[in-house]
Amino acid sequence: MRRVAILISGRGSNMTALIEAAAADGFPAEIALVISNKADAPGLDTARAHGVKTLVIESKPFGKDRAGFETVLQQALDDHKIDLICLGGFMRLFTADFVRHWYGRMLNIHPSLLPSFPGLDPHGQALRAGVKLSGATVHFVIPETDAGPIVMQGAVGVADDDTADTLAARVLEIEHKIYPQALRLLAMGALRLEGERCRTTAGASLCDELISPTII
Ligand code: GAR
Repeated sequence: MRRVAILISGRGSNMTALIEAAAADGFPAEIALVISNKADAPGLDTARAHGVKTLVIESKPFGKDRAGFETVLQQALDDHKIDLICLGGFMRLFTADFVRHWYGRMLNIHPSLLPSFPGLDPHGQALRAGVKLSGATVHFVIPETDAGPIVMQGAVGVADDDTADTLAARVLEIEHKIYPQALRLLAMGALRLEGERCRTTAGASLCDELISPTII
């Protein structure tokens, strides 16, 4: 059973999806710890309500001293014997050293079909680009923001009258489906990193084609 820490900064809806999935019989990972870099993150209460241990490590007092923050973070991860990290809306950049230490053991989710639209306002970026499909990506974390070997993606159609908020809500539903599945694959040992790509070694099936818009 792999021990997982989820790092959050806010709402924590992906965290909740991971906690709920991991509670099922046979899930190969246990959510052992939720860490927030913000004391007022609403996700902290949700984690506690699910009986998951929480920690707050405020990043603000560290200012630009990323390594200083990460020393405290790493100590907490060691104390709780954490094997894997899932970032769930964790809005703080890491040093390359921290990322290298956790390479292959740290996942992130981003609400776009990477490598399109990394960074801020991915839904606004998608709408401005006029794409007809958008979605979410679970990927291994590398030093570059919202990049790294892709584990799983889920796509949704983009409607002509979508706003960033309506698109975000549709993508979020997909996020909650793919993040637990991606963590399951990682915890099962069913992912193999090959350079910049991630391959799935367990029996996984390819999805059908997605076309949007379709004519009624
Ligand atoms: C999610 O949509 C996640 O994909 C996004 O932040 C949101 C957090 O929501 N992450 C990023 O944009 C990373 N660049 P949540 O706290 O409800 O899981």
